[in-house]
Amino acid sequence: MISNKKPMRLAVFASGNGSNFQAIYDYMQSHEVNGCISLVLSNCRDAYVLQRAKKAGIETCVLSVDDFEHRQAYDQRIAAIMEQKNIDLIVLAGYMLLLTPWFTNRFKERVINIHPSLLPSFKGTQGIKDAYDYGVKITGVTVHFVDSKLDHGPIILQKEVPIKASYSLEDLEEKIHAAEHRLYPKAVHYFCSRRLVVKGRKVMIRE
Ligand code: GRF
Repeated sequence: MISNKKPMRLAVFASGNGSNFQAIYDYMQSHEVNGCISLVLSNCRDAYVLQRAKKAGIETCVLSVDDFEHRQAYDQRIAAIMEQKNIDLIVLAGYMLLLTPWFTNRFKERVINIHPSLLPSFKGTQGIKDAYDYGVKITGVTVHFVDSKLDHGPIILQKEVPIKASYSLEDLEEKIHAAEHRLYPKAVHYFCSRRLVVKGRKVMIRE
């Protein structure tokens, strides 16, 4: 049943392909999620996610860091846009810029990210390859709240992905992305249903 509480307004931040944006958008089209994606923001003018958003009829915004005097000025501009558009939740989906502590403090527990490993293992931009090269037998994906440290905030959901001996790196990438596309919409759904309760590092999911 759709909640009678005010629907959540989401902004997706992405720098590239946007397959996670697509998965979340598609899920929201076919499930009763108490929210909508109101904006897609990118730091890259030619990011494919912008085409996906336009096709979905969602407003887009491109802001290049180079047009700002310093990093925090960029985040201040973004924060002003979020506030002007009454955004409740910021969904990072392959956003290749680190948010400043100023921004993460201002939007505490209102920014989520997906990372392609089982955090706290294999932080950073090469989570899939690093796990593959390390030889772990199980990796996975993590959705977490974003705080001021890289790939660090309280964990909302995780899903394991076994690495079979026969897998190439490309096989693993495919499995990880498929797992992401199932897990991220679920986390968004929980947030929009106001089911996530954060206590320190622990995130409870209310029934
Ligand atoms: C995903 O693998 C995600 O885990 C990472 O960046 C990638 C984005 O992919 N943070 P896409 O742009 O959503 O296809």
